[in-house]
Amino acid sequence: MRFENRVAVVTGAASGLGRAVAQRLASEGATIFGVDVNAEGLEETATLVREAGGTMHHYVANISDRMESHGAIAQAMDTCGRIDVLVNVAGVLRAGHVTDVTEETWNLVFGVNVAGTFWMCQAAIPHLLESHGNIVNVASNAGLMGTAYTTVYASSKAAVVNMTRSLAMEFIRTPLRINAVAPGGINTAMAQATFFPEDTNWKLVAPSMGFRSLSEPEEIAAVIAFVASPDAKALHGAIVSADEGITAS
Ligand SMILES: NC(=O)c1ccc[n+]([C@@H]2O[C@H](COP(=O)([O-])OP(=O)(O)OC[C@H]3O[C@@H](n4cnc5c(N)ncnc54)[C@H](O)[C@@H]3O)[C@@H](O)[C@H]2O)c1
Repeated sequence: MRFENRVAVVTGAASGLGRAVAQRLASEGATIFGVDVNAEGLEETATLVREAGGTMHHYVANISDRMESHGAIAQAMDTCGRIDVLVNVAGVLRAGHVTDVTEETWNLVFGVNVAGTFWMCQAAIPHLLESHGNIVNVASNAGLMGTAYTTVYASSKAAVVNMTRSLAMEFIRTPLRINAVAPGGINTAMAQATFFPEDTNWKLVAPSMGFRSLSEPEEIAAVIAFVASPDAKALHGAIVSADEGITAS
């Protein structure tokens, strides 16, 4: 019960890893405030959390919009009275040849993964400074290495990595902790619905796929719960790889 009497805001809580994080933190006593664009998925997560004896509120927002991110945090404060943990899980991935990338794809991926993560941090930090709380951003192995056919996504996750380190430096003299977890492939809708070009040279993709199987969302949620918990008091500005060894080489 590392999160008893604590409030955790979790973006991307409607599905995949975000859902698993909501379930895991709730099982350890946190009140969850889930944020996502997908209202139906949020309802499903809230039902799962409540059926397991936990507490979850939820709010529909497009985090790539600054006003909506700030609105989500304001609503979390109104509803829960405090915020102790922010887990930025929401993200999108598009694969394809660099020459086929449209402005729409660029804006979508950077809007959610980079701007969305940033706006949520910006809105939550004043409250986290008060609660001596912490932020866990979800990066990716793709933010730490070159990945063929996913240049836009990998660039966005590299931005999340350095956003995490830069925020950590700015707040290094405060009790606020800011870290990132960098998973490899996770068995979620994102992994199942990512389509590579027909002429993909799979030898180029292999290094970012690794040698082991995909992680289960619950396994990555356990790492995130550790990083967000008082057990990880020594972590600040850390990028914690949880990628089945992909970035070991
Ligand atoms: N699945 C993988 O293999 C993998 C690997 C490494 C990192 N990640 C990262 O893990 C995180 C979770 O991914 P997942 O695998 O659970 O994918 P997912 O597609 O199952 O979940 C992503 C969630 O983000 C939400 N979302 C998308 N755009 C949003 C927006 N504008 N505002 C609010 N919510 C929005 C979606 O509705 C969805 O619920 C992402 O940041 C992803 O980049 C995933």
